[in-house]
Amino acid sequence: MKQLTILVLLAAIFYVEGEEEFLPSYLKPCDLQKSDFKKCVRQQIENSLPLFSKGIPEIGVPSIDPVDLNDIVIDGNGLKLTFTKAKMHGLSEGSLTDFIINIGEKEETFKLGFKGNLSMTAQYNADGKILILPIRGDGDSLIKCRNVEVEINSKLNHVKDAKGEHFKLATPNYKYNIESTTFDFKNLFNGNKQLAETTLQFANENWRQLMDDLAPPVIKQIVKTIVKAINKFFSKVAITTIVLGYKEA
Ligand SMILES: *[C@@H]1O[C@H](CO)[C@@H](O)[C@H](O)[C@H]1NC(C)=O
Repeated sequence: MKQLTILVLLAAIFYVEGEEEFLPSYLKPCDLQKSDFKKCVRQQIENSLPLFSKGIPEIGVPSIDPVDLNDIVIDGNGLKLTFTKAKMHGLSEGSLTDFIINIGEKEETFKLGFKGNLSMTAQYNADGKILILPIRGDGDSLIKCRNVEVEINSKLNHVKDAKGEHFKLATPNYKYNIESTTFDFKNLFNGNKQLAETTLQFANENWRQLMDDLAPPVIKQIVKTIVKAINKFFSKVAITTIVLGYKEA
């Protein structure tokens, strides 16, 4: 019995170690000693973005396309608008616009720029006014944002555990820009087509006004989700596995 316990324990340890060393085949380590190190890392990120955003189940990195969002509640300026069961789509189809990683410098940093077309599907419930026009209804909604640019800047910390040294993004901050947005709310005014069309058209013409309230909580959740996924990856893959020639402190 005791032997069996030891065996199971060993198996568990090896299993964890095996899991620890897992690096998806599309990711190749870059050599810190080579002059093209930064270029290599950027290339890796560029190549792996569509796959990475689908998650790495082997090491528990969740998919970020689609992303489940927490409920969004806008309540002010005479409008109460809530979104539930919200999902963001499109992160895997965007592209990298900027990527900088500073390793081995006094303050290590990480910068990631993303550009893509994102859409949000959700159940909406609206009651109140957009500027001057009434809006009321509940049902399916689709919000499409064209050319969303997000830039994440973060400190790159090192954390040490039994398996070695790992990167960790810390205190990330971000900024964003959205080129344009279109809204589609089904079942406005209990299906009264004429009222619905007038309000939808008005909402689309004044999209920036609505997005001033809507974008901040949504973008915040997206950034949080991306950073969490990256940190999950970092926590499972030691620096020495992804950065050749890196000497642990
Ligand atoms: C977003 O979609 C438009 C039109 O379909 C396309 O021209 C543009 O390149 C897309 N943007 C990105 C960042 O993929």
